[in-house]
Amino acid sequence: MSGPLAGREVLLVVGGGIAAYKSVTLARELLRAGAKVETILTDAAQKFVGGVTFAGLTGRAARNELWDASYSGELHVELASRASIIVVAPATADLMARAANGIANDLATATLLCAKSSIVYAPAMHPRMWEHPATRENVARLVARGARLVGPVIGPLASGEVGVGRMEEPEVIARRVVELASSARDLEGVRVLVTAGPTHEAIDPVRFIGNRSSGKMGLAIADAAVERGATVTVVHGPITARASHHESITRVAVRSALEMQAEVAARSEDSDVIVMAAAVADYRPDVVATHKIKKGQDRLVLELVKNPDILAGLGAWRGANKRPVLVGFAVETGDLVGYARSKLSRKGCDMVVANLAEHGFEGDDNTVTIVTRETAEEISRRPKREIADRILDAARTFLDSSQSRG
Ligand code: C5P
Repeated sequence: MSGPLAGREVLLVVGGGIAAYKSVTLARELLRAGAKVETILTDAAQKFVGGVTFAGLTGRAARNELWDASYSGELHVELASRASIIVVAPATADLMARAANGIANDLATATLLCAKSSIVYAPAMHPRMWEHPATRENVARLVARGARLVGPVIGPLASGEVGVGRMEEPEVIARRVVELASSARDLEGVRVLVTAGPTHEAIDPVRFIGNRSSGKMGLAIADAAVERGATVTVVHGPITARASHHESITRVAVRSALEMQAEVAARSEDSDVIVMAAAVADYRPDVVATHKIKKGQDRLVLELVKNPDILAGLGAWRGANKRPVLVGFAVETGDLVGYARSKLSRKGCDMVVANLAEHGFEGDDNTVTIVTRETAEEISRRPKREIADRILDAARTFLDSSQSRG
């Protein structure tokens, strides 16, 4: 069988949710891409779909029993070792909770615990379950260990409500598996510098001017880049989000825009890609009071001066050779593509990731449009970690073209 997954062993783990019926289509898509597909159904999955359907499609018996009498060895060890990629679809809240906690009380979770290969989770659940802190923590732990997420996406749910919790379409999941199979370490040797979070501009020793920014988008980009083999440095302003999941990321903490500018400038020569995800304060107080300003008078006038535009400075500095690749962000309230294009040329960068102000500050999901001079790709609401991969995919195309130029 030819196709992008030709000869690859893919293990499909089906959890117990209504979306399990779509996993039949997913199995077919994976087979169509050339993969050899093995299936595990959890007990709950068997209430929604039958093993016979998968067996008929894949030509291999669908597995369920940890202690399979038809098998003499340890089935979970064998299945985990054989798979080059594992896809969990639908990944229910329960299945991910067990996997995140190392519970191995059925064939699906015992196999996941033995896995050495890449694991892709396609979550599907009610939005309240998806947003629950327990699920958030479990998903973060799985991602920290290198798992990939596809979806969930927004849309009508089995309950009749609309929200984030719908499993991504099988065709999209299969495409991500193909991408993962071919591009897992596609940033090996690439040096990526990411800025994240806000900057705080001191007014006096206890007060500051700052922007709303959790830093999560920048950190997601850093995590994604390091998992794809890049050498990653994050220069971050004051953030409360966990600094990063990966030990190997170099972290540089700064407070103000001027400090951020200095730390970025010190590293720009040694970077292949710079992603300016930080929400840099545009102005800073002209004079920083050395003592706490007392609340005496009814009106207080602060004189502000403009901060340097770090990204525009990099754009001007790199000049015509277009190295490093420069990625900017834009938070707007309308006409995303129009403003992003003007920002592209004004700041001399290659790509601008634009999002609407009402999306994306503190949350784990975002909706963005990736704008280049020629293209504008809208990515509907999905986890920041997944958007991070799409941003890196786009940045990589500039890297390839600037490499080929010389
Ligand atoms: O002009 P605006 O602030 O909308 O541009 C946002 C982009 O420019 C972001 O990538 C941000 O990190 C960067 N920026 C910067 N220095 C500033 C302001 C914004 O690098 N002083």
